Amino acid sequence: WILMATGRSPTNIAVIKYWGKRDEALILPVNDSISVTLDPDHLSATTTVAVSPTFDCDRMWLNGKEISLSGDRFQNCLREIRKLAGDVEDEKKGIRIRKEDWQNLHVHIASYNNFPTAAGLASSAAGFACLVFTLAKLMNVNEDHGKLSSIARQGSGSACRSLYGGFVKWTMGNDASGSDSIAVQLAPESHWSDLVIIIAVVSSKQKETSSTTGMRDTVETSPLLQHRAQCVVPARVLLMEEAIRNHDFASFARMTCVDNNQFRAVCLDTTWTWQLIFLNTTRQIAEACFLMKWIIFEVAYTFDAGLNAALISPNRKVAGLASKAAICFPPSPENDLASYVTGDKSII
Ligand code: DP6
Repeated sequence: WILMATGRSPTNIAVIKYWGKRDEALILPVNDSISVTLDPDHLSATTTVAVSPTFDCDRMWLNGKEISLSGDRFQNCLREIRKLAGDVEDEKKGIRIRKEDWQNLHVHIASYNNFPTAAGLASSAAGFACLVFTLAKLMNVNEDHGKLSSIARQGSGSACRSLYGGFVKWTMGNDASGSDSIAVQLAPESHWSDLVIIIAVVSSKQKETSSTTGMRDTVETSPLLQHRAQCVVPARVLLMEEAIRNHDFASFARMTCVDNNQFRAVCLDTTWTWQLIFLNTTRQIAEACFLMKWIIFEVAYTFDAGLNAALISPNRKVAGLASKAAICFPPSPENDLASYVTGDKSII
């Protein structure tokens, strides 16, 4: 026999950034972060997990290519979910799995991203959130999303926020075990449904430095990071929560941009020279947003660790204009904005 489950998880865009770990193995951050989850029709991972007594080891395929599951991150997620597995019965197929059986049963996992992997579009966030969610579904794990988020976190920090739609906060927690470092939903997507996010795909090439390596360098070499984590982010998180609660786009946009700028600043304060390479494009997008603010409307920009930009605007019309303006401005040979995942449907 074979038993299968399929799940889909969207990626998320941080508006208050997670950058820096206080515990590398458990993936515990140095500050809280807040994100917006995207519409799964556009940027998501879809994962199918199968279990059968004929499987002799755990295996995984990503976008059709087999990848190794030997890394700690995969192993931690698999181990933690197996610990919580429940009894499963499928009468039609005559299958009965007791919870203790899961320790000896192997799984095969097939996952697809509908967007470029490792191009700075938080593919690991969607991927690990989806892996944990789908394993939990298959193994009949009876835990809330908070617990699942703490397991997804051990795959990739930002993944814990993709367990929820809408506006999500990852609380850094205090406990050394990581038990209180979980994600919570601040508001569902319906709370601010006219907010639009456009992802400007500047480059779909794989990042040259992973976020993991980049933030490790920042923790080791940036004196500015401590200031950010202790003196800036705590107050900013409260203001961002208030802006979301009150649909206050001006404040939301301002904090999204300044937090992105400070994230970039700690990267520049790091012995991580790769960050310098993409300054031209990101400067152009930031300038375009700044100009638009003075002409007609406010648009927020934010970048994760790759080249690609997320533009956030208060409604669809503005979003359409913003994407056109960002692609055209400033008209210079250095402007290498190539293509867009855009349109009416790029909504939260
Ligand atoms: C810039 O979650 O990819 O996107 O925990 O090492 O897997 P690991 O890093 P990852 O880092 C994301 C960094 C970011 C900001 C954010 O999403 O908050």
